[in-house]
Amino acid sequence: MSAKDQDNAIGRRRSDNKELTGAPRSAHIKRTAQESFSLEAFILRRSMPWSDGEAGGLNFVAFGKSFDAFEAQLKRMVGAEDGITDALFKFTRPVSGSYFWCPSMAKGRLDLRALGF
Ligand code: HEM
Repeated sequence: MSAKDQDNAIGRRRSDNKELTGAPRSAHIKRTAQESFSLEAFILRRSMPWSDGEAGGLNFVAFGKSFDAFEAQLKRMVGAEDGITDALFKFTRPVSGSYFWCPSMAKGRLDLRALGF
């Protein structure tokens, strides 16, 4: 991709790391702008890029108190809201995914009441 197309895909300029003011609606940071959802969709992201010979990608990891914020973002990324898909999908392909449940802590101990303990 040209430098301009790369910048537009994310919505940020690689050369100086500035967010683009006129980024296209398909730009990843426009699709996922957390405060732009009607119920703000905040997640904690801790992703890890990987490469193995010719293949490469991102293990995307997000934490949240429910699936809601993550699913709201994914819906907009795939264009379910307005038909505009995230420019990331021009050069990336979701391969697999998993959800895990992490019990919260209560009074210094794991709160396992959701499991009936
Ligand atoms: C190939 C997969 C992905 C790549 C390469 C990627 C890459 C990026 C990059 C480069 C940024 C900009 C960071 C910055 O401006 O500081 C970003 C932001 C973000 N991404 Fe992704 N991302 C991927 C998948 C996802 C997925 C699957 C989600 C959620 C469903 C997501 C949610 C977000 C959020 C919430 C932001 C911050 C937006 C904001 O509030 O400014 N990303 N991502």
